[in-house]
Amino acid sequence: MIKTVLCDLLSIDYPILQGGMAWVATAELAAAVSEAGALGIIAAGSASPETVQAEIRKVRSLTKRPFGVNIGLFSPHVDGLMELVVAERVPVITTGAGNPGKYLPRLKEAGIKVIPVVASVALAKRLERAGVDALIAEGMESGGHIGEITTMALVPQIVDAVSIPVIAAGGIADGRGLAAALALGAVGVQIGTRFICASECTAHTRYKNAIIAAGDRDTTVTGYPGHYVRVLRNKLTRQYEELIRRGATEEELNQLGVNKLRAAVVDGDVIYGSVMAGQSAALVKKIEPAAEIVCSIVSEAEEVLKRLGAVVNG
Ligand SMILES: Cc1cc2nc3c(=O)[nH]c(=O)nc-3n(C[C@H](O)[C@H](O)[C@H](O)COP(=O)(O)O)c2cc1C
Repeated sequence: MIKTVLCDLLSIDYPILQGGMAWVATAELAAAVSEAGALGIIAAGSASPETVQAEIRKVRSLTKRPFGVNIGLFSPHVDGLMELVVAERVPVITTGAGNPGKYLPRLKEAGIKVIPVVASVALAKRLERAGVDALIAEGMESGGHIGEITTMALVPQIVDAVSIPVIAAGGIADGRGLAAALALGAVGVQIGTRFICASECTAHTRYKNAIIAAGDRDTTVTGYPGHYVRVLRNKLTRQYEELIRRGATEEELNQLGVNKLRAAVVDGDVIYGSVMAGQSAALVKKIEPAAEIVCSIVSEAEEVLKRLGAVVNG
């Protein structure tokens, strides 16, 4: 049984968070992951507070277990979303794209655990000082918006720099990854790409099959400094590369990406849509229930850690 301080902090059985993923991480996926003993997370993306409120209520109708909401600080509705999670007494929020500092007093007063995603030591230190409960150190192997440092290098640097719990994210899809994250000093993992292929995930089957078909070199990074995004290669990424070759402006590059994640996730357009996925896509072999994903990751990590213990004992 793998238990860490993260399990006590969040009242969960296993030290695994399902990453908040815009369009992908709906109530169905979050509830299934939470029911399995990990922490399911609804992604607010750019949805309105009303839409997210309906998702929160749906999760609560499906499970009594703790769950989280991911709020991107870039959302046009960020103020309303912060008010919503306070009003709904959501147990945990994760935040992306920056510093949630100005919302912290209100969130803490409401007893909400706040866990920002960080991709640098400097931001990790600043957020520890601001009073967050834990941090997700996300490496550039991840799917979606990414920083510039790998998980292997970033996690131990953040572990050394702060004294609050650190969760590793990026490139982790199985028990070996969980064991490795613990070895780096993390108290748990956040996993995105593998959970897209949970049966309960409402993403289009073509999206899931594209992840299953992906090999080791099938992701690429689009974007520009400060706005890098990891996706599966397709005609959209080729159009993107062409624009870069022609010296397109950031505005033109942004324009090409508009509504493309939705097109891939909801409509199943894996040719011209933005199929965000991490380098761990090549480790994902099938569509299976969230409970099986969680169980297999935990039991494999236990085996690995026992095997490694035996190496030390000779
Ligand atoms: C399709 C997709 C959408 C994502 N959207 C978000 C998001 O809205 N907010 C966020 O903080 N992280 C987002 N992420 C990052 C995940 O929450 C998670 O940290 C990441 O997927 C972990 O790396 P992995 O894909 O290698 O497991 C997204 C990732 C993917 C694959």
